Amino acid sequence: MPGTYNDRIGDFTMDAKTNSKSATLTVGGKSYDFPVKSGSVGPDVVDISKLYAQAGMFTYDPGFTSTGSCESKITYIDGDAGVLLYRGYPIEQLAEKGDFLETCYLLLYGELPNKAQKADFDQRVTRHTMVHEQMARFFQAFRRDAHPMAVMVASVGALAAFYHDSTDINDPQQRMIASMRMIAKVPTLAAMAYKYSVGQPFVYPQNNLDYASNFLRMCFAVPCEEYKINPVLADALDKIFILHADHEQNASTSTVRIAGSSGANPFACIAAGIACLWGPAHGGANEAALQMLADIGSVEKIPEFIAKVKDKNSSVRLMGFGHRVYKNYDPRAKIMQKMCHAVLKETGHANDPLLPIALELERIALSDQYFIERKLYPNVDFYSGITLKAMGFPTSMFTVLFAVARTVGWISQWSEMIEDPAQKIGRPRQLYTGATKRDYVDLGKRK
Ligand code: CMC
Repeated sequence: MPGTYNDRIGDFTMDAKTNSKSATLTVGGKSYDFPVKSGSVGPDVVDISKLYAQAGMFTYDPGFTSTGSCESKITYIDGDAGVLLYRGYPIEQLAEKGDFLETCYLLLYGELPNKAQKADFDQRVTRHTMVHEQMARFFQAFRRDAHPMAVMVASVGALAAFYHDSTDINDPQQRMIASMRMIAKVPTLAAMAYKYSVGQPFVYPQNNLDYASNFLRMCFAVPCEEYKINPVLADALDKIFILHADHEQNASTSTVRIAGSSGANPFACIAAGIACLWGPAHGGANEAALQMLADIGSVEKIPEFIAKVKDKNSSVRLMGFGHRVYKNYDPRAKIMQKMCHAVLKETGHANDPLLPIALELERIALSDQYFIERKLYPNVDFYSGITLKAMGFPTSMFTVLFAVARTVGWISQWSEMIEDPAQKIGRPRQLYTGATKRDYVDLGKRK
């Protein structure tokens, strides 16, 4: 069944006997065949791993826009249709019917737990929520005004210095202990980072609470008052964690995989992921989106702002809009929008002046040719900032919350990579455009 696969790649042929597909690359009159692999769903991939050996050439794909870096069974995204599946289950169903720890189990083990497995898993996570007491002293070394993400990068990396007994990546038992430790302890560190930034005492975890309630309590309880969990907020936070738990081979996950590919310990790899997540084009977008709404200030100023976004000479972007993979409404954004309204109502912030700005901005952008042509739709971060603000979190904590949720995704992807027999150290190549070989000139002779 010969057919055109891609103009530049050449012919895409299928061998009727073996049922295997291949792609042919023709360069300078010579042809090279490469296997085409099919996944369970989604576009095929051309396996060009032998390209350099056969043709002496590399591929060039800055930003990896057309490059698959690994085989994975964890998360599937159809960006055109706006579909997100964890282990095959639609994000909408998981967010509506499940809880975050169930999602963690699913991502880590591949299947939803039965009742006994769920109870056992919840117990295993909650048993590890405390961090070494010396961590509290480690925190004292940070400046009072340190960004909590800086504290997270350092403190999660520092876990490797506290838990030597789970850093042997070749031992499956140690890998699992490290995984459980991180799912359990990253929220504790995140809450400590918050408490430190506001000058309040750290609040120890309380293991009879569910994951989200425990986190809210560690963030907002103070020793001098009783803290009452608000179930609406706990439920919303649990759902926010589910929405952010994994997202295929995004920048921070790829960072975790690359760091892990050298054999680095899992705590160091997750710290690398947190560092990558911090950027405004990735996890920092919710903070940037909220700042943008505040900067716009009023609905009347939106047309002026949109004009700036569309101006080729300005670098202004509509934060919380656009996605490398979604060329349709981000399915997480729809759930987040609904949750945003519920949280605002519950917390008495229904009149938050930023909400009408967000709604109007969304309405204009969805009907404006600039955004339609470029397939720019709201992403998960467009409404998460307003929601988290209403819950009481300062903007500096938004990306930290993302990191808490994404820890399980990073760990699942890292474990999958370690267990993959085809795993190699990540080592991309380059198109070199610098100086060719030249001789050293003594300092006195240089012009
Ligand atoms: N506002 C205005 N124009 C945009 C935007 C935006 N948010 N995003 C993309 N464009 C334009 C861009 O200027 C370009 O136009 P042209 O073709 O005329 O040069 C075109 O759309 C394609 O943009 P791109 O930069 O090539 O797209 P990308 O796939 O490399 O970027 C992105 C994806 C998420 C970095 C980008 O859309 C962006 O910067 N969005 C704002 C930041 C944001 O909300 N990030 C959160 C992503 S979701 C959470 C997560 O997974 O981390």
